[in-house]
Amino acid sequence: MRPIRTQVGIIGAGPAGLTLAHWLRRRGIDSVIIEHRSRAYVEARVRAGLLEQNTVDILSDLGLADRVQREGHAHHGVYLSFDGERIRLPFDDYTGGRHITIYGQQEVVKDLTDAWLAGGGTLLFEAPALRIEAIDTSNPTIYFEHAGETGVIHCDFVAACDGFHGLGRRTLPKGSYREYSNTYPFSWLGILAQVAPSSEELIYAYHERGFALHSLRSSTVSRLYIQVENDDRIENWPDDRIWEELSVRLGTPGWELQSGPIIEKSITPMRSYLIDTLQAGRLFLAGDAAHIVPPTGGKGLNLAVADVKHLVDGLTDYYHHGSTKALDRYTETALRRIWRAQDFSNFMTTLFHKQAEHGSFTYRLQRAKFDYIRQSEAYAATIAENYVGLPFGAFASTRLPTL
Ligand code: FAD
Ligand code: DHB
Repeated sequence: MRPIRTQVGIIGAGPAGLTLAHWLRRRGIDSVIIEHRSRAYVEARVRAGLLEQNTVDILSDLGLADRVQREGHAHHGVYLSFDGERIRLPFDDYTGGRHITIYGQQEVVKDLTDAWLAGGGTLLFEAPALRIEAIDTSNPTIYFEHAGETGVIHCDFVAACDGFHGLGRRTLPKGSYREYSNTYPFSWLGILAQVAPSSEELIYAYHERGFALHSLRSSTVSRLYIQVENDDRIENWPDDRIWEELSVRLGTPGWELQSGPIIEKSITPMRSYLIDTLQAGRLFLAGDAAHIVPPTGGKGLNLAVADVKHLVDGLTDYYHHGSTKALDRYTETALRRIWRAQDFSNFMTTLFHKQAEHGSFTYRLQRAKFDYIRQSEAYAATIAENYVGLPFGAFASTRLPTL
């Protein structure tokens, strides 16, 4: 295989890697993507579905949002339920019209892959990166495998957008970063079902039997989740049991959950994880490669895209103005939103999951939070602005100066 020469070598064709490639192309910067898995595997991987306003705006600016606009579902509010009492949190009143869009992650990946290849971009599937070398020089190198051969990419920068189990984080020098992590004592069982959504907007529910979430993918496909034990197994959950549990946990007087054939089901553990240094020399990490949030609140994909924005800003400054100032600040800039998302995801998780016995101190605090959402405009606004995603400008300054 002939060596490949490009400006930015991108590892991973998930939301982070693909968005980065498109955005760099827009800025006249050349990149090549290598992806471990096959195209069919990546495009079939069922994951997130909640796009923040920022994410949709970025896709629109890049000319990649035709299908999101057509087939995505704009939601201007969300239902929150506690012990069967359901309220609606309207976004528009608190966010000046900013809202979320429901559109499957694998559809985003399909759209971005199609557009990248149609535009003549290089993306090698079934091409796992094996080693990243010379990150302390101006010519780092990625070695990868493809069709039984070893390939090599010579580039100016390596962008590791290779997810939580990727090579990028493992390549950072030992001791160059600090790690923070928290594993929750519960997991999510998620299903995709061939049935019209029973609610036009999402429902997050606390119930004494555990958390439940009603989401959707289209007018004929619903996406639902329930809290299960960490050591639970999918074999313990025949379809009837899942529907019964969802129906009890999401239940509220005068509302009924419609059930239908389940077309996918899986269990995902929940963890918070991040490292506090996203760069070593010419190697930069973006997305799940550097952080994981528990899924409650749907921040994972959006955070990956937000990292990419900061990385693009840095690379643009370098290629257009010869300055590394913005690149040098990449970690610091990205971490502001990463910590915000960590806090919000943890907040949503601990508010809506069953953590302790009904009636316990922990339960009472959860209940007090829910009641406060109903009382306080300020608290409702805090949740709404985090949920739809804070604008990029919100992190540029602080409202209250240090005295
Ligand atoms: P990824 O999407 O993980 O992409 C990384 C890519 O890199 C992958 O395609 C991988 O194959 C590739 N790769 C890895 N190693 C190599 C290598 N050595 N060489 C080449 N390629 C490599 N978020 C939510 O908000 N809501 C949810 O409901 C939700 N559910 C999830 C369910 C699961 C099972 C998982 C794993 C994640 C879920 N997330 C969810 C999180 C969300 O999907 C991620 O935050 C998002 O995918 C991050 O995008 P990314 O591009 O950083 O990483
Ligand atoms: C979805 C997933 C989430 O984690 C969430 O908070 C909202 C929606 C979804 O898959 O649709």
